[in-house]
Amino acid sequence: MSSEIGLVGLGTMGAALALNIAENGFDIAVYNRTASVTTDFVAGAGELAPRLTATETLEDFVGALAKPRTVILMVPAGGPVDGMIEALRPLMDDEDLIIDAGNANFRDSRRRAQEAEATGKPFLGIGVSGGEEGARHGPSIMGGGQKAAWDRVSHILEAISAKFGDTPCATYMGTDGAGHFVKTVHNGIEYADMQMIAEVYGLMRDGLGMSSDEIGTVFEQWNEGPLKSYLIEISGKVAKATDPKTGKPMLDIILDRAGQKGTGRWTAIEALHAAAPATTIEAAVAARNLSARLDERKQGEDIFGAAPQKIKTSGLIDAIEDALLAGKIACYAQGFGFLQSASDEFGWGLPMSEVARVWREGCIIRSTMLDDMATALTETPDLNLMFAPAFAARLKDSHMGLRKVVAEAAMAGVAAPALSAALSYFDTMRTGRGTANMIQGQRDFFGAHGFERTDDDTVDNHGPWAMNAQ
Ligand code: 6PG
Repeated sequence: MSSEIGLVGLGTMGAALALNIAENGFDIAVYNRTASVTTDFVAGAGELAPRLTATETLEDFVGALAKPRTVILMVPAGGPVDGMIEALRPLMDDEDLIIDAGNANFRDSRRRAQEAEATGKPFLGIGVSGGEEGARHGPSIMGGGQKAAWDRVSHILEAISAKFGDTPCATYMGTDGAGHFVKTVHNGIEYADMQMIAEVYGLMRDGLGMSSDEIGTVFEQWNEGPLKSYLIEISGKVAKATDPKTGKPMLDIILDRAGQKGTGRWTAIEALHAAAPATTIEAAVAARNLSARLDERKQGEDIFGAAPQKIKTSGLIDAIEDALLAGKIACYAQGFGFLQSASDEFGWGLPMSEVARVWREGCIIRSTMLDDMATALTETPDLNLMFAPAFAARLKDSHMGLRKVVAEAAMAGVAAPALSAALSYFDTMRTGRGTANMIQGQRDFFGAHGFERTDDDTVDNHGPWAMNAQ
């Protein structure tokens, strides 16, 4: 019997996704470059094995699929995806669908979708979030490409996705690279969320002298309130864990050098290209880059000494909770703002409130707050998220906490780049009269670039610099 769908690439994510598909009642053919991986995978699939067909060659794999065929690629992003498309296409019919479900750069998905459009061979680029656990039991899925192709497979993607209540967290976002773009911004926000949590961990550890276990308890408490989220939950677990080898807190054993595969960085790069403010995400990416400079940081510590002082202020834990809340709102305001500008630039018509909805479950940044964001983006779609009434109210209550925490961190010598960026964004966006008049004055002084006046509508004005220079 032919399989309804096929999957290429049985790495951690591919294997988990294949089992999820099988568990949801779909027969699936699987293929991996190393044939023994495929046979071992199916042999180890237990009661799901009857739904899985192991294939050893691409020809067998394609031959095992019901027509019109659907193939999901879970191979490393970039060249390997192009290579696999090139190898598969000659074996497939024109109407067969290829889905790239890896962490692709959206520009690659755009190109592949455009090629597919030109040749009439359907292609979807879908962002899948939730790590291995999500892929296995319900990820968040962000689709991009031809709507007709999405409609062909949406029943499978919705079935395997996470559910918020009864609502599947699988949504069509728009044409060509839209799905992978939304996933990229998800990852940028993921970086910023993680970085802000790491910053307050640092403040509690170095500024307040708290133990990992005490910090873990604070995270657990926060996870009962408005900060409730997957990342706060796992941060509590990470902080509470003990290293089985030494018996010390796990966090004291983990080296402070962060890895990154690139999607968070892409968000920052694309945001700069689009002139969209994504400063909290940029700060988070830069913090990961700086974390890699371990030897240099140690050199700095030898010269300047460790953080200058402990924090004596009482009641800082509540302020830190507020700081995370305010920082998170500012960060998501930037993320959604960036999605909107990209949507305008690429003509995607991204369904902004649906983006928030699809992130409510399954993905790494899932949180209670995303449900409120979905409501705000539905009710006031044209407003900066910080200005939507429900979030403006929260910011009014919490921005003083953010301010206090950034100030205390500065005085204690604890770096808090993402929280500082969030505060600066908030302060900039609440300032009707900023300071770019000085920038314009400088530009006109050295380059006669011209400026707009505050007292009329003229644009190409110049100051009396030549006169002053003499
Ligand atoms: C997800 C994650 C995932 C990402 C890892 C590692 O949504 O499931 O974003 O796609 O690859 O979190 O990312 P970094 O190596 O860049 O930290």
